Amino acid sequence: MTIREMQNEILRLKKEKGVLILAHSYERQEILEIADVTGDSYRLACSVKGAKEQTVLMCGVRFMAETVKILAPEKRVILSHKDAGCPMADGLTPALLKELQAKYPNAVTAAYINTTAKVKALSDVCVTSSSAVKVLSRLADKEILFVPDCNLGGYCKKRLPEKTFHFFNGGCPVHMCARLGDVLSAKAEHPNALLLVHPECGAEVAERADYVGSTSGITDFVRGSSHGEFIIGTENAIAEHLEYEFPDKKFYRLSQNLVCADMRLTTLKSVWDCLAEHGGEEIILDEPLRLAAKKCIDKMIELGG
Ligand code: 13P
Ligand code: SF4
Repeated sequence: MTIREMQNEILRLKKEKGVLILAHSYERQEILEIADVTGDSYRLACSVKGAKEQTVLMCGVRFMAETVKILAPEKRVILSHKDAGCPMADGLTPALLKELQAKYPNAVTAAYINTTAKVKALSDVCVTSSSAVKVLSRLADKEILFVPDCNLGGYCKKRLPEKTFHFFNGGCPVHMCARLGDVLSAKAEHPNALLLVHPECGAEVAERADYVGSTSGITDFVRGSSHGEFIIGTENAIAEHLEYEFPDKKFYRLSQNLVCADMRLTTLKSVWDCLAEHGGEEIILDEPLRLAAKKCIDKMIELGG
C-alpha cells in the first residue's frame, strides 16, 4: 500500500466505525492529514465535548488520552500506541508528589497537564503551557508547588514575582536538549530569523526567544506574523508542519536533537491497526480517580485557562 492508499483506507474505516481522530501537533505529517482535530494537548482534550462520534482515537501520548477520558467519560478513548508515554509525566509518581506536599504543607499544588491522572488527582489546579501564567496569577494562594516541569515552572516564577514557588526537579528530556550554544549558533547563522520556543526549554534558551508558547501558540504566531524566517525551538515535527503550511517562509530547527521518541511511535499503520481493533489501548479510569483528576482541570477552567 502507498501512504495515500493507507490514508484513504483509514478515512473509510474511521467513517464506517464513527471514530474521531485527534492528533497532537508533534505527530507525523501523514497522521495530521487524516485527523479531525490537531493542536496542543489542551485544544485536543477540549475538542471532544459535543463530538458525535462515540470513539476517540488519540494520536499522541498517554497523558493526553487520559485527559480526554477525564473530560469525556462517556466516550471510548483509545491511545494510538500502548507504549507512547511521556517521560516527564511518568517521572513524577504519586509517592514522590506526596513527599513534596508533606515538605510544603502550605503550598497549593499546580500540575502541568503533562502528568498522569493519578498525579492530577492529588493536585489542586492544572495548567497548560499556554495557560500557566494566567491561571497561577489568578490563584488567591501565594505559595505554589509546581510539578513536574521546573522549566515551565521557572518561566512562571519570573513572571509572577509576588508568588513563592517550589519545584520538582523534572522536565522534558527532549526540550532540555536545546542549549544556549544551539541558540547562539542558530542566531549567528540566521540573524534575521525570529526564535520561537516552547516553555519546556531551559531558561538560557527561553530568555533569548522572541516568542515563548505552546505548540499551537507557536503555529498561531507564525500564522499572524509577516516575518519570513523562524528558528523553531520545540519538537522538530512542528518545523516540518510549518514548512507545509507556509511554503514561502523559512524554518530552521534549533537543534536536530529535538525529537520525541514517544510521539514517533505512532505511525499510519498503528492508526490503521487501532481502527481494525487490533492495536492501541483503551483508556480505563476508575470513576473516583477520574472525578478527583477532573477537579484540578475544572479549577484551571474556572480560572480562565
Ligand atoms: P503542548 O501542550 O504545547 O501541546 O505541549 C505538550 C507537550 O508534550 C510538549 O512537549
Ligand atoms: Fe513528554 Fe517531552 Fe515528549 Fe512532550 S516532547 S511528550 S513533554 S517527552
